[in-house]
Amino acid sequence: MTEVLTQLAAPTESQGLALDRASNRPPMITAAQIARRVRRLGREISRVYADIDTPLVMVVILKGATVFAADLLRSLSIPAELEFVRASSYPSGTSSNGRLKLAHMVEGPLVGRHVLLVEDIIDSGVTVDAVERRIRRLGAASVRLAGLLDRPARRQVEVKIDFTGFVIPDRFVIGYGLDYAGLYRELPHIYALT
Ligand code: IMP
Ligand code: MG
Repeated sequence: MTEVLTQLAAPTESQGLALDRASNRPPMITAAQIARRVRRLGREISRVYADIDTPLVMVVILKGATVFAADLLRSLSIPAELEFVRASSYPSGTSSNGRLKLAHMVEGPLVGRHVLLVEDIIDSGVTVDAVERRIRRLGAASVRLAGLLDRPARRQVEVKIDFTGFVIPDRFVIGYGLDYAGLYRELPHIYALT
């Protein structure tokens, strides 16, 4: 696993193209599969929120979920606002004990608003759990979760994912917004690195 990661982290030409061309393996999920699934999720979400009387508030968890969120937003047929939160682990953290630093950049009060959290991948569940608690404390009328990828193998916190794109096996993935060491977010397909 480490070998693969090292190899991929040091490409000589444009990162994305290097990986796209050099990688012999097919994508785990292709751009076409993603597009189809996201359109469906958009329709489903639009149905669920059809009767709310304020615009939906999409709260996107930076940075990985931005690509998914941009496509999801455009597949909605209901009015929606777009807000962001940033979650990062405390650098001093020794193990995955769930310590997260949250910065929210939500404009205006969330009191009484219907919030859809948008995340790229739910792994341990620690991130979305923390963000969801924070949003609930801000007085949202409802909080639901849309996750492009669900990787249940390493779940530590029970999380209810209301709208799931794909359930994936226990492999590290990149592309379509997901990074390894800050890179590969631009790849249109999703690849397994491990
Ligand atoms: P969790 O808090 O353990 O659920 O981790 C979720 C966060 O870790 C996501 O927001 C991602 O940013 C990151 N992450 C987890 N697994 C992967 C992966 O396979 N590829 C890229 N990022 C990942
Ligand atoms: Mg993330």
